[in-house]
Amino acid sequence: NSASNAAADGKSSQGASPAEAAYPKMEIKLSHVAADNTPKGQAALKFKEIVESKSGGNIKVKVFPSGQLYGDNDEIEALQANNVQIIAPSAAKLSGFDKSFEIFDLPFMFKDEESLRRFEDGEGGKKLLSKLESKGIEGLSFWPNGFKHITNKKVAIKSPDDLKGLKIRTHGGLIINEVYEKLGAASTKIAFNEVYQALQLGTIDGQENSLVNIDTQKYEEVQNNLTLTNHARSEYVVVANKKWWDSLDAKTQSLLDEAMKEATEVGRDLVQKLELESLEKIKKNGKMKVTELTDQEREAFKQAVQPVFDKWAAEMDPEVINLAKEASK
Ligand code: LMR
Repeated sequence: NSASNAAADGKSSQGASPAEAAYPKMEIKLSHVAADNTPKGQAALKFKEIVESKSGGNIKVKVFPSGQLYGDNDEIEALQANNVQIIAPSAAKLSGFDKSFEIFDLPFMFKDEESLRRFEDGEGGKKLLSKLESKGIEGLSFWPNGFKHITNKKVAIKSPDDLKGLKIRTHGGLIINEVYEKLGAASTKIAFNEVYQALQLGTIDGQENSLVNIDTQKYEEVQNNLTLTNHARSEYVVVANKKWWDSLDAKTQSLLDEAMKEATEVGRDLVQKLELESLEKIKKNGKMKVTELTDQEREAFKQAVQPVFDKWAAEMDPEVINLAKEASK
């Protein structure tokens, strides 16, 4: 609401004196854990570029990638303390606030990019973001990471049985961990920026992530197998400190909203292109054996984890679930 008022204000104040039109001087910190050359990294840099140029340099955005400022274990607390103004964690990392944030981890919930966009741009996305308000958090947007796939160092996974006995790292949340337990694997939550080392040390056998993260984190150096499972989605929620956000004047909020929209488009335009590039690179390097699944083989995974889907879908906001199902039709 305030954003649309701001847009109207912006128009009606055209021709106002330059002093009146100037944006307040400020610095915004945006912290995330992925690399720069990922959809999230590029979206964050686009946000910075637009905000800085459109504010005439008055608003500076400092982007901290790769967990340089905060990692999974402290970024949400840092956001609530306003030590950082914007973060973009995987949705499941917000599930402490509301179970529905794990919707992207419901196995095989979203069928493609278009389904995700329909959900996020519609009432489902809005409803999900609104759940953060009472926690001092303003939901700004969803950014894509990609569908998740499994790497490990022991076995070329072809069927659900192949996961038995493996120890797999996840980004946390009850649903994705239960998915692995259902398949007879052990699952453990480890902060993203510590995963490479855990794989190297053998604390875990494998992990699941987007192709772009698998590639940019160089997991191929410490893993032997990649199976293209597409079993769940890694999707980010871009969130701001609400007190800080509410303290901004309408014109500034409107600029940030606009920049966020454009940045989101950049991430969306890039995600499939970068996924493809990462897959080609992994295949070319030949360090991991890439296993693809036929529809029938993927169906076996789907069947095996259906009870996990059913159990947790029933625990989520029914409206959010129904809208997600509708978006994926
Ligand atoms: C993960 O922890 O696997 C992801 O959330 C990392 C990321 O891309 O933010």
